Amino acid sequence: MSAATPSLQSVAFSEATLARFAREVAKYPPDQKQSAVMACLSIVQQEQGWVSPAAEQGVADILGMPVMAVHEVTTFYNMYNQQPVGRFKLNVCTNLPCALRDGEHALQHLERRLGIQKGQTTADGLFTLQQSECLGACADSPVLLVNDRHMCSFMSTDKLDQLIDGLRAATKEEA
Ligand code: FES
Repeated sequence: MSAATPSLQSVAFSEATLARFAREVAKYPPDQKQSAVMACLSIVQQEQGWVSPAAEQGVADILGMPVMAVHEVTTFYNMYNQQPVGRFKLNVCTNLPCALRDGEHALQHLERRLGIQKGQTTADGLFTLQQSECLGACADSPVLLVNDRHMCSFMSTDKLDQLIDGLRAATKEEA
């Protein structure tokens, strides 16, 4: 008989992070603090760049819910990173309406341009390329989302190249 699986060590959040969690939890009745799970996971991702299994355990401990329930949220929503990502995360929609209007072509062009496959990050850590479910902008296809916030529409090959060049140039200006 196998030994019981040891429980995962949870991450130790900073006082500032705990205060941010508390502000989200306070928006709900005390017996419904689990409703703050998405907000807490978003805070984790903002601060750490991704949601690690240890961070999931930490959020579960704080909200008094099973870690598997937290993990179900992390894995259900495309916006949560389950592993470290590059500075710019590019989510290209390839759902059917976009697939019919060059969504796949856009993804393949970025794979060639960046020299990576979907799901991978460039060696310089700048770009992570991902396939995405519907982004709610089917009429603007091909579409992609940069860092879960900035929607880019009608992404022709030229516009994709301009986007990559622009993001690279922006990082050089900062250096
Ligand atoms: S199918 Fe691509 S945005 Fe809706």
